[in-house]
Amino acid sequence: MKRIAVLTSGGDSPGMNAAIRAVVRQGIAEGMEVYGIKYGYKGLVEGDIELLDTASVRDQVARGGTFLYSARYPEFVQLEYQLKGIEQLKARGIEGVVVIGGDGSYHGAMRLTEHGFPAIGLPGTIDNDIVGTEYTIGFDTAVTTAVDALDKIRDTSSSHNRTFIVEVMGRDAGDIALWAGIAAGADDICIPEREFKVENIVKRMNEAHKQGKNHYLIVLAEGVMHGEELAEALKRQGDLSDLRVSVLGHIQRGGSPTVRDRVLASRMGAHAVKLLKEGKGGLAVGIRHEKLVENPILGSVEEGALMSINPDGSIKVNFPHEAPIELYR
Ligand code: F6P
Repeated sequence: MKRIAVLTSGGDSPGMNAAIRAVVRQGIAEGMEVYGIKYGYKGLVEGDIELLDTASVRDQVARGGTFLYSARYPEFVQLEYQLKGIEQLKARGIEGVVVIGGDGSYHGAMRLTEHGFPAIGLPGTIDNDIVGTEYTIGFDTAVTTAVDALDKIRDTSSSHNRTFIVEVMGRDAGDIALWAGIAAGADDICIPEREFKVENIVKRMNEAHKQGKNHYLIVLAEGVMHGEELAEALKRQGDLSDLRVSVLGHIQRGGSPTVRDRVLASRMGAHAVKLLKEGKGGLAVGIRHEKLVENPILGSVEEGALMSINPDGSIKVNFPHEAPIELYR
């Protein structure tokens, strides 16, 4: 394979630039030309594609966001748009693509592979919700940002004897809430993966107050409900007039990536190029026990369990999210 392309798609995540940089540098080291597709699948369909060189990715390893820009582009599920994208690749002699993004982006990568253009997926999302990898690129940074905010909120919550609900991102996954909540020593963590009862939170809060604790910190995953909804439910069951809600929002998506995200992105980016060089496509790169693994890309999206390929070609299924949840309990 002599010409490959890279795109970022869906919600951005810190570390995407480091991943692009690794794809470009590894590709050039392998004697390939590497093209950057701007605005994800939208840019692919519209031909917003340019040749990248070593200098294009200079100083990118530490930068948040994605210098290739990103877009959500649901149109790409339609064959008509896929074929337009294929034409753009053909016109430039591009033979394989690295797609950095979340599960929606993986569907597009699978379609490209089916049309004869091997695509490799890299898990770029803060949500840590991609099956087949224990960590996604950007998750560590998002959690670090959330913990920084939680530590600050704890200070003011303690000064004013207040209860705080802090809503964090994660879409349908509770990973950011769980990790940030544990790291910040939250009093309660509400995640979509575990049922919870409002009356139990109130009970625990009252017990904590009886023991002399004057403030209470609840970390709420957005996939459960909005912070204001939980506040209303709590107020209906207890005397919580001085309750405050803080929604962390998009600050969790930005900022310079942590060391862990930079290294993860760099390793995954380089690995994706090696897979393309071997002519492989339809695979998603993941990390398991600190080792890079590959999974069938649609399995990563649809099977609902972490999968890795054994040396004999059989598929091993694991459930990565149970241990941390048990840890908290
Ligand atoms: O998937 C990343 C994510 O930040 C989610 O955590 C969040 O629910 C969503 O994207 C927000 O999307 P948008 O930036 O389009 O509002």
